[in-house]
Amino acid sequence: MTQDLSPSDRAKYACARRAADFVENGMKVGLGTGSTAAFLVKCLGEMVRDEGLDIQAVPTSSRTAELARAEGITVKTLDEVGLLDLTIDGADEFDAELTLIKGGGAAHLQEKIVATASKRMIVIADASKDVAVLGKFPLPVEVIPFGLEASRALIHDVLSALGYAKTEVTMRMAGDVPLVSDEGNHILDLHLGQITDATQLSAALNQIPGVVENGLFINIASAVVIGHADGTAVTRDLLLGTETSVNVFEADNLFSDIGDDA
Ligand code: A5P
Repeated sequence: MTQDLSPSDRAKYACARRAADFVENGMKVGLGTGSTAAFLVKCLGEMVRDEGLDIQAVPTSSRTAELARAEGITVKTLDEVGLLDLTIDGADEFDAELTLIKGGGAAHLQEKIVATASKRMIVIADASKDVAVLGKFPLPVEVIPFGLEASRALIHDVLSALGYAKTEVTMRMAGDVPLVSDEGNHILDLHLGQITDATQLSAALNQIPGVVENGLFINIASAVVIGHADGTAVTRDLLLGTETSVNVFEADNLFSDIGDDA
């Protein structure tokens, strides 16, 4: 079973499988985007089929919507369901306060809208995403196509003013052309190295007219499930102040058909 997965995928599966336990009958659930979230969608699909789990799911990207439908999960728009009970999503980095960098999959705009429309957000991530200081992962910023270079220049100005000297800002590409997000925008990646004040940086970036949203999630997530290759899933709940650990590999399933580009 799980021995066919790579160590990285076993860790992703472990946290996704554990987080699926927090989903209850009747819930309205936000489904994240990315390879870790894809494992979650697979787990929930299995629960829908095998256990009759009855949920309404709001996906955070076209990719997740497609996967959820294929899994037999009832997919709704955010406007159809309103406030969500729970969103479970991956992250590119998280710190001790559960401030996140997201958007490695270019979906952070919808992800942030869905997460902030939820009573609770749980992050699922392998241990490599757990960092003391955010910023090694480039910070994604979604910008509208109109006036892109003007927006890029203003981003450089903001970064200089905040002390991020000589920061590289790169255009996210899809092959030879700029990537286009689900909302028809582009993504600029800010290579910061480390972020000293996420709140200040996020506010400053979002004041630029052409910026739609940046990938910093601040005071949105309240718990993280950290997956390890041996099947251990550690749940750290900031609200409860607890840390609990289980191993999900005792009796479980394998979704070896999920690729890293999900
Ligand atoms: C999507 O835009 C991102 O926010 C993802 O949630 C994040 O990049 C984590 O993706 P992986 O689970 O694939 O690492």
